[in-house]
Amino acid sequence: MKIGTLENIQHAKSLLNTTLLRPKPSSLIDDYGRCMKKLRVSLLEACNFRCFYCMPEEVQFLKNKNLLSVEEVYKITKTMVGFGVDEVRLTGGEPLLRKDFKEIVLKLSTLPLKKLGLTTNAFYLEKELEFLKFTRLNHLNISLDSLDANKFNRITKRNGFHQVMSAILKAQKMNFRVKLNMVLLRGVNDSEVFDFINFSKENNIEVRFLEVMKIGQAYTQNNNIYMSAQEIIELIKQKEPLIPVPMAKDSTSFNFRTSSGASIGFIASESQSFCGACSRLRLSSEGFLRACLMKEDGLSLRNKSEEEIYELCNKVLKLKPIERLYGIKQDMYKIGG
Ligand code: 5AD
Ligand code: SF4
Repeated sequence: MKIGTLENIQHAKSLLNTTLLRPKPSSLIDDYGRCMKKLRVSLLEACNFRCFYCMPEEVQFLKNKNLLSVEEVYKITKTMVGFGVDEVRLTGGEPLLRKDFKEIVLKLSTLPLKKLGLTTNAFYLEKELEFLKFTRLNHLNISLDSLDANKFNRITKRNGFHQVMSAILKAQKMNFRVKLNMVLLRGVNDSEVFDFINFSKENNIEVRFLEVMKIGQAYTQNNNIYMSAQEIIELIKQKEPLIPVPMAKDSTSFNFRTSSGASIGFIASESQSFCGACSRLRLSSEGFLRACLMKEDGLSLRNKSEEEIYELCNKVLKLKPIERLYGIKQDMYKIGG
């Protein structure tokens, strides 16, 4: 058939019609009107640290052969981007332990995302920064529970402080969008809140204080480490005023500038949950789509067509709670932080 002939144009039009007629789902909206825009993709369960509130020392991880392949991560994510997801965050475990991490980032960088981010403990980050600079992954959420090397090593049970700190400073210098996540642990690191505020001011890095979630290890250990964001806010306010910063409706954190110029946020998952405006879904490292951190059940998106994935997504949406659920024994590293 010659290009430009009437026959050819009609053929092209009929093709166009069939694509237009096929019901093409455009967004994932639940019964409460919450629109799913964000996907957390866990790449594996394994981690090189053993933060005491997250993981026991002896732990059985999923076998590598059961993890989603690069192609599977890409295919599922791409399909969900077609349904309206526009933000993807890679999590774990520790995502940088994946041998094919670079391939995954390169593939996901081809998708039309507003944001591609990584949650990492930053131990293996520094040597990846040059590579990441050439991808679309420029949001780095880095876990850092102490600015004191000895304490850091006690919390994580590994000697990683200096390597992590070096990566944080380099990433910031290279203009990545860096946020530090500090889990508030009573009697362990609560005395460091003002050190973190100073660190934020001096290095122009946003620090977010997280309430420890009563999940997995932190739930079963029963060691009174929990403290509320409000308690810390009151403490800071005694020293300096906090100026609220407007945030998106579905933001997990509420943020402030301190009068001294630090940029801080709070993720108060336990005391002020944000489920009502949640726009997140989670994909486990084995391909199960979960409605929520606190919902153990998920549906497998492996080896499914686009239409099947759409149906499964909607089934999962029905499982999405509107209010915070409590008491989950499953560990965080199995779910993806
Ligand atoms: N509560 C809050 N945050 C947790 N993380 C792990 N376990 C918990 C918990 N019980 C966080 C880590 C890291 C991310 C992957 O999850 O500190 O920031
Ligand atoms: Fe690893 Fe993060 Fe869990 Fe610590 S909190 S053990 S860094 S996954």
